[in-house]
Amino acid sequence: MLVNLDYVLNLAEKGNFAIPAFNVYNMETVMGVLKAAEETKAPIIMQVYPRLMKEETGYFLSPVILAAAKRASVPVCFHLDHGPSELETTRSIRYGATGIMLDGSTLPFEENIALTKKVVETCKYVDVQVEGELGHVGTTKDAEMDEFTTAEDAKKFVEETGVACLAVAVGTAHGKYTKPPKLDIERIKAIREATNNTALVLHGGSGVPDEEIKKAVAAGIRKMNFATDICYAFLDCCLDELQKPDRTVAVDNFMKKPIDAVKDFCISRIKLVGADGKAK
Ligand code: 13P
Ligand code: ZN
Repeated sequence: MLVNLDYVLNLAEKGNFAIPAFNVYNMETVMGVLKAAEETKAPIIMQVYPRLMKEETGYFLSPVILAAAKRASVPVCFHLDHGPSELETTRSIRYGATGIMLDGSTLPFEENIALTKKVVETCKYVDVQVEGELGHVGTTKDAEMDEFTTAEDAKKFVEETGVACLAVAVGTAHGKYTKPPKLDIERIKAIREATNNTALVLHGGSGVPDEEIKKAVAAGIRKMNFATDICYAFLDCCLDELQKPDRTVAVDNFMKKPIDAVKDFCISRIKLVGADGKAK
């Protein structure tokens, strides 16, 4: 069933776990993620990078996500990931998204507040909630990490914008880590406390050690993002299959194993964040 961001965040809050948010790129990754969610009876988020919404991919992919969500036996939220501007947020709503991220983390603090607040207000008209980002979560290729989110700024940001959840910079980055990251768990706890237990979001989930993810969830992470490792699960399987001399050539049949590789990866993450069996 297709649900909005509030719906899945409320489940996570009540059950003390995190909603796994998986980035999807094509029909096959949608199918892998959906199979994992249904097999484990987990509420999930399927999210899409903004570049796909700017290119024509979003036009074709959105109906696929909606079809999957509407037929699903578990709650599925269709979320825009890292929306940089109102172009992507508005287009995503038109395409049927039920959750929106406005990522103003590279803007000056007050500008981030102003733009996020504006998007929160627009999204309210269509019962869609917004994820904000404060403290920029960069990539593993950056020379150094930006400053971590402070509890004091997070309190002001949440109060002034009205976001449903907040992405925080606490030691993760997007992409493949060269060495495993260490998270600032005490900071997560402090931000939770200062923001009246606002749902916090951890980006850059691929390659974060399992124990660190468990501690982060216990400290108040309620949405946990995975993208890079979905790509690796899918493409590594494609590459393996392509090495075989007797490989399948019908594309639909060829895709069955990569779909299952995505499913297996997602099942492992669903269990890790404690979302299995939590569909309601
Ligand atoms: P990874 O690609 O590092 O898993 O990050 C996912 C993410 O945060 C998507 O916004
Ligand atoms: Zn991210």
